[in-house]
Amino acid sequence: MYEIARRLIPGGSQLLSKRPEMFLPGGWPSYYASAKGITVIDLDGNAFRDFTVGGVGATVLGYADPDVDAAVKAAIDQGSMSTLNTPEEVILAERLTDLHPWADMARFSRAGGEAMAVAVRIARARTGRATIAVCGYHGWHDWYLSANLAKDDALDGHLLPGLDPAGVPRGLEGLTRPFRYNDLDSLKEIVSTAGNDLAAIVMEPMRDSDPDTGFLESIREIADKTGTVLIFDEITAGFRVTTGGAHLTLGVDPDVAVFAKALGNGYPISAIIGRGEIMQAAQNTFISSTSWTERIGPAAALAVLTQYEKADIPAQLVAIGQNVKQVWRDTADHTGLDVNISGLDPLAHLGFAGDDAKARQTLFTQEMLDRGFLAGPAFYAMSAHTHEDIADYADACREVFALIASAASTGSIEGRLRGPIAHSGFKRLT
Ligand SMILES: Cc1ncc(COP(=O)(O)O)c(C=O)c1O
Repeated sequence: MYEIARRLIPGGSQLLSKRPEMFLPGGWPSYYASAKGITVIDLDGNAFRDFTVGGVGATVLGYADPDVDAAVKAAIDQGSMSTLNTPEEVILAERLTDLHPWADMARFSRAGGEAMAVAVRIARARTGRATIAVCGYHGWHDWYLSANLAKDDALDGHLLPGLDPAGVPRGLEGLTRPFRYNDLDSLKEIVSTAGNDLAAIVMEPMRDSDPDTGFLESIREIADKTGTVLIFDEITAGFRVTTGGAHLTLGVDPDVAVFAKALGNGYPISAIIGRGEIMQAAQNTFISSTSWTERIGPAAALAVLTQYEKADIPAQLVAIGQNVKQVWRDTADHTGLDVNISGLDPLAHLGFAGDDAKARQTLFTQEMLDRGFLAGPAFYAMSAHTHEDIADYADACREVFALIASAASTGSIEGRLRGPIAHSGFKRLT
């Protein structure tokens, strides 16, 4: 199927992170027939338990959550589209602004990257300025990729290295300028050279590491002093460590926050929430789309929020992530493998050390697949992961880490691979 896709779909898939080359070239199942809980059935009827990135971070409750699906089916039965507006979006705006007391208003879209483009447009409309200081990955749109026009590797180290800005107009060069997390000086440099043109500071409040003491507070201060809009991208961090944005646990409020992924448990919905005076700038520009008005997205989001009210989902996600990190740590100690474990607990990362790190990771994926697990360099917790699942995953990890350690000791990691080494970051498929 993927061979056919490569001929019919440029790049083979709509999302870089779903390319099979990112996991196990030639060996990854690539397509699913059905998914339920944490179990994915491929087109040949093989069942795998998913210990990778759970719908690329979208399905915090697990696949095909019955309550969310019931709400979506009801929305379909009531008509998912009409000439009139769907009331769910008003209720969702109310719920999200209640959860984030600093925010007064909300707009909705359906994907994460487009919601970030909306937030950036609002900031530019509000301030009448153009320059954006950016840290981290925020989607495929021109405003973001233009950071790579200035210097090819400007975005390296910001989650996805090597993003090619071909097709992004040269005229945008220099308008989006990257700074590094926990490196205040790199932001101050942009602030001082941007003069009075800084429209927004765009960043995830936290992702791979906690903020250093005072880092976010200093950024808040800079934004206030310079009249710049502070935008927190909560597309991946949101609804994982608490009900709402991760920033709620950090004591610093942004001017605008953006949600997607977990908010709909896989159904497309994204939200841009913000302070009233800033959000009103959305009326001074044109931000409008037919598909942003359908009913399924906000109906799914309301059902997700109800699940968060019924149970402490973030506590579950944190505990599951901690358990999996512990499995990696214990197994690495036991087998003498050198690994780096990082990331927020529910968004955990596993890196193998060594010059052949990528080969080791590919071997890990290949061998875990043989044992019925989708596994790779990241684990995103879903509340559907049970203790039993984690215990079985731990058993498989023990076998596979031992196998990697033994192959490493004889220099035969690549020899054990049945296909090529996995790709990392952005790589053009030819
Ligand atoms: C922090 C962050 N921002 C933006 C995006 C882009 O969202 P989407 O893929 O829904 O366009 C992602 C996706 O991985 C993300 O992690």
